[in-house]
Amino acid sequence: MTDPTDETSIPPQFERAYECETPQSRALADRARSVMPGGDTRSVTYHRPYPSYVESASGAWLQTVDGETLLDALNNYTQGVLGHAPEPVTEAVCARFRAGNGIAAPTEPAVELAEHLVDRVPSIQQIRFCNSGTEATMNAVRAAMAWTGEERICKIDGGYHGTHDVVEVGVAGGGREHKGIPRTAERRVQTVTYNDPEQLKATFEAVGDELACLILEPILGVGGMIPPTDGFLQTARDVTADADVPLIFDEVMSFRLAPGGAQERYGIEPDLTALGKLIGGGLPIGAVGGSEPLMEQFHPETGAIDHSGTFNANPATMTGGLTTLEELDASSIKELNRRGDWLRERLQQIGDEFQQPVTITGEGSLFQVHFTDGPIRNRRSSTAGDPPSKTLFHAMRREGVVIAPRAMGNLSTAMDDDDVEAIATAFRRALETLD
Ligand SMILES: Cc1ncc(COP(=O)(O)O)c(C=O)c1O
Repeated sequence: MTDPTDETSIPPQFERAYECETPQSRALADRARSVMPGGDTRSVTYHRPYPSYVESASGAWLQTVDGETLLDALNNYTQGVLGHAPEPVTEAVCARFRAGNGIAAPTEPAVELAEHLVDRVPSIQQIRFCNSGTEATMNAVRAAMAWTGEERICKIDGGYHGTHDVVEVGVAGGGREHKGIPRTAERRVQTVTYNDPEQLKATFEAVGDELACLILEPILGVGGMIPPTDGFLQTARDVTADADVPLIFDEVMSFRLAPGGAQERYGIEPDLTALGKLIGGGLPIGAVGGSEPLMEQFHPETGAIDHSGTFNANPATMTGGLTTLEELDASSIKELNRRGDWLRERLQQIGDEFQQPVTITGEGSLFQVHFTDGPIRNRRSSTAGDPPSKTLFHAMRREGVVIAPRAMGNLSTAMDDDDVEAIATAFRRALETLD
């Protein structure tokens, strides 16, 4: 029997069908289990009964070791905005790698990517590169702490900013998310509700002078892909400016929404921005950028913050990132967002015919399926990841489309209108099997 309250369980018929269709993945997962806990090395790619192994990926498509060809509407959790192995990026990265990559010295590609991002994002005057979104938000928080001399941060309930201690508080609600996070981290975090400007104002009135920063995703991502309601980001800007507390936008996911990221789309400039995912062109990356005075704290001679990393600004990643961003110009973003708007509308129409309430949220090329009739304004009203999200994931996969097990997805520029239609068709058929 499936326990509907168990977030990891899926109906037995889906599990049996999956096992029949994926014997090679099962064999690999069995091997993997003896050398990696759970047979995986990334929590979000793990799912029951075992994850499917991908052999190769090209454009909008994944080829599994079991001989399946699947339309990828997950794109490595939004990183693969151009789809897989886009030709110009692959060429540029391979050429740069042949010219040498692990070099303990700066290289021109880092200057070029930095210049491109500074041109693209008005709030970024200076930038530093690292190797993940986690490091990006960690360094942004450090810059804010060094600036203010404070150690407490304000973050959104349900906000996800990677895996360093302090931001792993209040992701799924409540306190620290697992036993690896020290209890002391909880004391350093003040959570506020997304899209609640009054609570944000009250919090800053009460404890604004004790805070190092307010960090938030302009669109609440893992928490349910929820856009900001009118005025919320402006309130965030106003209260932080009044309290002289740096406002950090985590645009690791949302940067794809406009050439200058969600901050351009919503017309609000933060003091610091954390970037990652797509700006590395398929290679690991993170970056923190912001106003010159804040970023000067990373200056090796005069700054107060040490920042090193063996792979920081390695030229292959820099080249991949620059080529990706050159491809992802204003017109391709406009087209991607148009397709995303169309898809969310279609998914909502299909969901409206389903016996259970369905609400689609998202923005531009990002979407999330919620099994509730809403309204969805914050983590508590989101059902991302709740049953039957994982069943939807399996049902969609059977129809040839991959989304996240938490029922989130996104588009890439490698998809055409037919591919987007195929996602809608798979959604309709998947819901029919859930009925
Ligand atoms: C908004 C946001 N911030 C930070 C991160 C962490 O990035 P990374 O997985 O590269 O450490 C993620 C990852 O999904 C994210 O979505």
